[in-house]
Amino acid sequence: MGTTIAITGKGGVGKTAVTALSVLALVEHDWRPLLVVDADPNLNLDAALGMSAQDTVGAVRERASQERGATQSGMTTTELLEYRIRQSLVEGEGFDLIAMGRPEGPGCYCYANEILRNVLGRLSGTYKGIVIDCEAGLEHLSRRTAGDLDLLLAVSDPTVRGLQTARRVLDLVGELNTSVGEAKVVLNRVRGEPAESLMEAAERLDLQIAACLPEDEQLAALDAAGRPLTELPAESPLRQAVANLVTGWLSKNGIPSSE
Ligand SMILES: Nc1ncnc2c1ncn2[C@@H]1O[C@H](COP(=O)(O)OP(=O)(O)O)[C@@H](O)[C@H]1O
Ligand SMILES: [Mg+2]
Repeated sequence: MGTTIAITGKGGVGKTAVTALSVLALVEHDWRPLLVVDADPNLNLDAALGMSAQDTVGAVRERASQERGATQSGMTTTELLEYRIRQSLVEGEGFDLIAMGRPEGPGCYCYANEILRNVLGRLSGTYKGIVIDCEAGLEHLSRRTAGDLDLLLAVSDPTVRGLQTARRVLDLVGELNTSVGEAKVVLNRVRGEPAESLMEAAERLDLQIAACLPEDEQLAALDAAGRPLTELPAESPLRQAVANLVTGWLSKNGIPSSE
């Protein structure tokens, strides 16, 4: 199983931006190949990374649950599901992207989910690392389709209210049956130095701040124009701050790159 990093937080705080820039940084530092998982049903990580995911694991699971029992050209249901999930992967430079899609509907797909867990477990073993863009509801974590996490980053805006939300998001993960190595907060869209009152609130809430990421107008402009965030220039302070965050964590934990 590769090292797993998940990025979570409430909607609009910058999860997808932080995930996309983390993927860029990790690949650039030869921490590859990566499995990049879009676990937000809004599915926009592919566009942020300049690619397009056509199929989702959710859609594959749904089709499989409807076909249960049907004989398929000598393949078992597990083989068929694994084949289709592999086919839904989109190849990027140094990483593969998989989109989870909608969480479960009202029907019970426990059987397909169990297969899914096994398939994703096997699949993730072939990668150096896994990076997950995760909605705050953490559906895929609670179903354990995402596996255990080495690092969980809760992205927050630089406000006390934002930190309180991050605390709740992290508490929610604590209630799940998912083991988390380290859980930290990333303050995003910080202008200048973060206020002292904010740092005090973090301490009160027992939150560790892993990084303060600057507000970056170029990023917002790329997003507004529907351009991939990977077009952000290498010298952008935001890009560098994200790179320092993820590569710093890897080296602190003695996790070497591939070369
Ligand atoms: N550091 C930043 N500087 C400027 N704009 C940002 C920054 N981080 C995120 N944004 C903008 O905020 C909006 C929400 O970001 P996004 O990554 O889509 O959030 P989420 O995935 O959490 O919903 C986007 O328009 C994005 O461009
Ligand atoms: Mg998002």
